[in-house]
Amino acid sequence: MQIHRRVSLAPLHALACEVIAECLIVIENEWEFQQLPQVLSQAPEPFWMLGCGTNMVFAQDFPGTLIQFALTTSHLLEEDSSSQVWRVGAGVNWHQWVLQSLGMGLSGLENLSLIPGTVGAAPIQNIGAYGVEFVDVCQGVSLVELKSGQRQYVSAQACGFAYRSSHFKQGKRWSQWAVTSVDMKLSKVFIPQISYPDLQHLQFSMESTLSAKVISDTVIAIRQKKLPDPKKIPNVGSFFKNPVVSSEHLQALKKEHSNLVYFALPDDQYKLAAAWLIDQCGWKGKRWGLAQVHQQHALVLVCNDSAGAVSVMELAQAIVEDVWKTYGVVLQFEPMVWS
Ligand code: EPU
Repeated sequence: MQIHRRVSLAPLHALACEVIAECLIVIENEWEFQQLPQVLSQAPEPFWMLGCGTNMVFAQDFPGTLIQFALTTSHLLEEDSSSQVWRVGAGVNWHQWVLQSLGMGLSGLENLSLIPGTVGAAPIQNIGAYGVEFVDVCQGVSLVELKSGQRQYVSAQACGFAYRSSHFKQGKRWSQWAVTSVDMKLSKVFIPQISYPDLQHLQFSMESTLSAKVISDTVIAIRQKKLPDPKKIPNVGSFFKNPVVSSEHLQALKKEHSNLVYFALPDDQYKLAAAWLIDQCGWKGKRWGLAQVHQQHALVLVCNDSAGAVSVMELAQAIVEDVWKTYGVVLQFEPMVWS
């Protein structure tokens, strides 16, 4: 177990801002894992889990303890003629796991290629992209209560998965629990999910040439074109969720903004493209102190300097206010924010 005091978070999160965490604990194996409750009894609170920090914003120093699980084992739990269920350690890199599963001839994760972060972070906010969400493959999640070491398994149905959300992200019930592994059911039979606008052109592929690998390669190419690589340009991907509105609200907005971009959801609800709202308000490419709205994608805020944490939050707040004033729509942050 590694225990670090007063560590710089710049190399540990995607926005790479120069802020300090009071304590960082890295757990590398099961044996160390059992020592955690005792170690935490002397560590400063609050306790937050840290994966690769790809979806976390630290706008100021963190006075508590960050805990990283470097648990990277995975094994096959169940198998039948059409699927396999894998239990994958929380510390496994998400994209590496996607590639590994494709290499084993399994499909289900191809649309989720190149999402930064760890497997353990996937259920927290029910990661999603290009028409697929983590919930679509999840069987269940294993967790540990940090202070007591008590373990619990939560079936996918009980995780409260919703758009970029779960019970683990919202509310107090699970705030002191950490994901140790997740169970994913992957298919031996390839069923393409290409309904997302950016993937629809694949329907014209010859049936024999369309494969999970082709979808994965396509998604990787789109992401590389649209989204800045956090290793080169510090960012946390989408900074805001796409807001969901009622049918009445949508009709009212469409009357005033005929070119509004939206997607229909079940239950007569509609998801607005937050990127479009921000773009229309003229924010794309705009600088705010040491932060900036990315030139290629209005939903992505980038940090141009390691001292830019405050600028990022000010920029985010200014965008929220402007979109509210212009469209009467409230934008919510997508990453976890410590401010
Ligand atoms: N658009 C603009 N201006 C822009 C960018 C986009 O007007 O600068 C409009 C376009 O009309 C486009 C629409 O917004 O059709 C939607 O854009 P895009 O397809 O890029 O998707 P998004 O809604 O902005 C969501 C996720 C992404 C995910 C993509 C693909 C959220 C908050 N974001 O983005 O997830 O990769 O769809 O599924 O749901 C992330 O969570 O970090 C993330 C990158």
